[in-house]
Amino acid sequence: MKKFSIAIDGPAGAGKSTIAKIIAQRLKIEYIDTGAMYRAITLKIIRNGTDINNIDEIIELLEKTDINFINGRVYLDGEDVSEEIRLPEIGKLVSQVAAIKEVREKLVAIQRDIAKNKSVIMDGRDIGTNVLKDAEIKIFLVASVEERAKRRYKELLEKGIEVSYDDIVKEIEKRDYIDSTREVNPLRKADDAIVVNNTNKTLEEVVEEILNIVCKKVEV
Ligand code: DC
Repeated sequence: MKKFSIAIDGPAGAGKSTIAKIIAQRLKIEYIDTGAMYRAITLKIIRNGTDINNIDEIIELLEKTDINFINGRVYLDGEDVSEEIRLPEIGKLVSQVAAIKEVREKLVAIQRDIAKNKSVIMDGRDIGTNVLKDAEIKIFLVASVEERAKRRYKELLEKGIEVSYDDIVKEIEKRDYIDSTREVNPLRKADDAIVVNNTNKTLEEVVEEILNIVCKKVEV
């Protein structure tokens, strides 16, 4: 099988990571969750007590930071932080951290390096437009704000985290705004990406839709 890359971009909560994980298993390729990497840097900034507006200190911190992705787990300086990065405090700050040019440069370099020698499915916001511009398959996954908020609400309730549905809608709208209007590599559909809409569809239907697109483009 020839090496290939699948880029999945789209707004927060469209279902990218759930779908990408399943596709990775079916095709026996590696799944890279780039949002998790931005979350890991955010965690380090919070732990360190660094002011998010202090770019010089953030640059210094980045030089001392190691982020790695092994078997679907994220490691921050050698520590598995896969669970901690999902806490709401991280979600609140991560868009602002992801808008910092130096943070993006560092993480994009790591992401390209991971995809250099193996087939991957990578999800994020700028994979098709920037990180893996030459990806054989580019998907832009969308879903309505209501559908995304409903999913997120259910997810948090299952974890025993009490939240208001209206707050979630507001947070999603705010994140969409920051992610798509930032100066450096904003969330945008690549010209050659195929739009897949994940509103009112089952998980299996969307997975099949994407697998069909993949099969038309590469031999798997
Ligand atoms: O997918 P997620 O919710 O875990 O992403 C966390 C944040 O990181 C989100 O605000 C968008 C940002 N992000 C990004 O700017 N570029 C990526 N490739 C992935 C995520």
